[in-house]
Amino acid sequence: MPLPDVMDKLVSLAKRRGFVFQSSEIYGGLGSVWDYGPLGVELKRNLQERWWHAMVRSRDDIEGLDSAILMHPRVWEASGHVGGFVDPLVDCKNCHGRFRADRLQDAQCLKKPSKVPGAHSECQLTEPRQFNLMFKTHIGPVEDTAAVIYLRPETAQGTYVNFLNVQQASRQKVPFGIAQIGKAFRNEITPGNFIFRTREFEQMEMQFFVEPGSAPEWFEKWRAWRMDWHVGLGVDPERLRFHEHGPGELAHYARAAYDIEFDFGGTLGPQEIEGIHNRGDFDLGKHQEFSGKRLEYVDQAANKRYLPFVIETACGPNRTLLALLVNAYREEPVPGEEEGRTVMGFHPALAPVKAGVFPLTKKEGQPEMADRIAADLRRTFPVFYDDAGAIGRRYRRQDEAGTPFCITVDGDSTRNDDVTIRFRDDMGQIRVGAAQAGAVIGRYLEADIVRAESTLVPPA
Ligand code: GAP
Repeated sequence: MPLPDVMDKLVSLAKRRGFVFQSSEIYGGLGSVWDYGPLGVELKRNLQERWWHAMVRSRDDIEGLDSAILMHPRVWEASGHVGGFVDPLVDCKNCHGRFRADRLQDAQCLKKPSKVPGAHSECQLTEPRQFNLMFKTHIGPVEDTAAVIYLRPETAQGTYVNFLNVQQASRQKVPFGIAQIGKAFRNEITPGNFIFRTREFEQMEMQFFVEPGSAPEWFEKWRAWRMDWHVGLGVDPERLRFHEHGPGELAHYARAAYDIEFDFGGTLGPQEIEGIHNRGDFDLGKHQEFSGKRLEYVDQAANKRYLPFVIETACGPNRTLLALLVNAYREEPVPGEEEGRTVMGFHPALAPVKAGVFPLTKKEGQPEMADRIAADLRRTFPVFYDDAGAIGRRYRRQDEAGTPFCITVDGDSTRNDDVTIRFRDDMGQIRVGAAQAGAVIGRYLEADIVRAESTLVPPA
């Protein structure tokens, strides 16, 4: 049984609540490019910060890097992208649709009623031609062929060309890794499914450099750690699985590869959100060959030099964010109310806003007290102050934003100096002193984070 398709509802909620907007919407939009609104940018940052913490800050064997999007054009010749980063493209001369020749069965003809391209008698599909997915631009004022450069289609190459810079500056010894988060661009022929496949996106990639003989062992370790990390984000383990690349599927650089797939439900179903690859010494070998610079690691203790093998973990934050939205979305009845509620049940550590603060009425000093509490809490975590509309509607808005706690200031609060904390998931409420509200919420958040991180500490 496929899991329910919540994509249309999510696209609408994402716009209504300010997670994701279509790029350049007032001009009719730009195909498969999206902007992240106030809640979306917080969610994405929280996700990226958790990755950075797990991969860089909490380990002593991984260094951070932020390499440039624009790189020397020879980089992409060496990596194989100029020659091989292509998809087979067919055009329809009748409806002017463009389709990936190897994915025709998943595509829809532009002619109504929609059918698989080629199925209408009027369809006139061209022979497939190879279409390079890299965006080209020019560096400097002269737009000639000598000035062509590319927007990077992956962050990984910035890491390979900096391998020795980072190793020597940080005095790391193999095995060690380099991690970075940054933009990547691919001129996808058939992007879509909201933010699943887009032309501009981000990557969180880590390359772990190891002695060639130990690569299979490290590959298995990273495979397990990366799956644990996704589970630690609160993703339902039942929706996650590995997909091993068979010999026909392996990328030109890979000796072994697994995808971590998330089941998005509906017709999209299980899809890759992260790839774990044993890339051998393909990349360092190619850059050594094309640049003419030795990129070998010198192991002084063992008195030997070699090109390390690379275990790569390549995760897409946009796609993972979509997985988090799908995973968090639920509709449920509310006892005693006619209308149910929609809840985004994010892990509290990821929730864009940690607490809503509401005065029950706009009288009796309640707004002033709520305002003071909000200002105080804002020094520690993101807070949303709301005094508009019935209290039930305010709770519903925060449920849709995924806010785990709401603090309400009522008539008793101004007399007794206490407030109500309401929990998103079970709608239970507790009464605490106003001055303790921040600490109480902080303790809940801390407990959730500790629980999530307990899965992340690699064994010694
Ligand atoms: N360096 C290896 C590499 O780039 P990849 O499988 O092509 O591997 C890694 O990309 C991750 O980047 C994917 O698992 C996915 O999450 C994300 N990604 C790739 N193409 C994407 C696109 N067009 N839109 C959104 N995310 C994408």
